[in-house]
Amino acid sequence: MSTYLDFPKPWLFLAPMDGVADWAFREVCYRFGADITVSELVSVGGVINCPQRVLPEIGARHGARPFIVQLVGHRPEEFRRAARIVTDSLPVVGIDINMGCPTALVVGSGNGSALLRNPALAAEIVAATCAGTHLPVSVKLRSGWDRPNLPEWAPLLEAAGAQLLSVHGRTREQQFGGTADHEVIAAVKRVVHIPVVGNGDIVSSATARAMLETTSVDGLMVGRGAKGNPWLFAELQAELKSSDSYRQQSISFGDVIREQSRLTFADQGPRKAPMAIRKHLAGYSRNSPSAAVLRAALKTLFSWDDVEGWIAKLEASFGQTPPKMDAPDRLGFGNRVGLGGFDER
Ligand SMILES: Cc1cc2nc3c(=O)[nH]c(=O)nc-3n(C[C@H](O)[C@H](O)[C@H](O)COP(=O)(O)O)c2cc1C
Repeated sequence: MSTYLDFPKPWLFLAPMDGVADWAFREVCYRFGADITVSELVSVGGVINCPQRVLPEIGARHGARPFIVQLVGHRPEEFRRAARIVTDSLPVVGIDINMGCPTALVVGSGNGSALLRNPALAAEIVAATCAGTHLPVSVKLRSGWDRPNLPEWAPLLEAAGAQLLSVHGRTREQQFGGTADHEVIAAVKRVVHIPVVGNGDIVSSATARAMLETTSVDGLMVGRGAKGNPWLFAELQAELKSSDSYRQQSISFGDVIREQSRLTFADQGPRKAPMAIRKHLAGYSRNSPSAAVLRAALKTLFSWDDVEGWIAKLEASFGQTPPKMDAPDRLGFGNRVGLGGFDER
């Protein structure tokens, strides 16, 4: 049976980002060329105990686009049960296990990157998850807890049934400091026979290419680099996969932001949407000559009209000069950027 693992490489993943990579942002990233997206982390306990509330919140509404649900927890049996529920209830192509989240709250419960300190339990969780689903099970990891020792035990995860490993090249102790270590990702790739996805600090086609060349990974996972710059996927599709279709149609910079805002309001409703969209608007405004003023005004956005007015100010702040984003000049669209169809799904 064919799975997302049969897609042409290098796979371009949007990284799971709690509070950022929500349904609306995932939709925008797909439309710019993300091959696969991953849900925000979802607790296995939540899936088991409150499926009626938790399953719809995951937002597995991406039509035919490949979407993976990421589970977080530390009890193997709960992973088995949650994987079964998700597989039976949602149109997803895979189950991912969070072994990277560094926050005190998550680690304090023995979840996320706490599992990096217990390879035997990590492997047991993989085996239990595989027992609950026929879909490919992947694991998202950091390079280690306080030293980059993942290459020493990554084969245990493969032996337990994992079909893909995504590696963020930082230890838990590093949090987000320093730069992502490509050598440890390359070392993981050398010791397993399953695909490996490289993650950390990919912000351009140059950094993506460097990750591919230094690590020989099968796919790339982009997180913060896509925030305020979903065009990055169009650039990566063109530069790494010779696929120009994502930048052939054009939509203005402001219209992309309006569309993401509209999708956010449609998905989250008028009460939650303003908070959810603010952090994205901050990203979109970072190259504006009025970035500081616009950023300060974000906390005054409470309604759709407020958001629309703010976007108009952002557009006006650029005057006749095209917004200077990280990629579009190189895309050659001036302030028009490519988009493979903003159709409703
Ligand atoms: C705001 C935020 C939320 C995140 N939430 C998750 C998450 O839910 N699950 C996960 O595995 N990683 C999460 N991450 C980590 C990212 O997936 C990624 O590994 C990390 O940001 C490094 O990649 P980047 O340099 O491309 O951002 C989060 C990162 C950020 C910045």
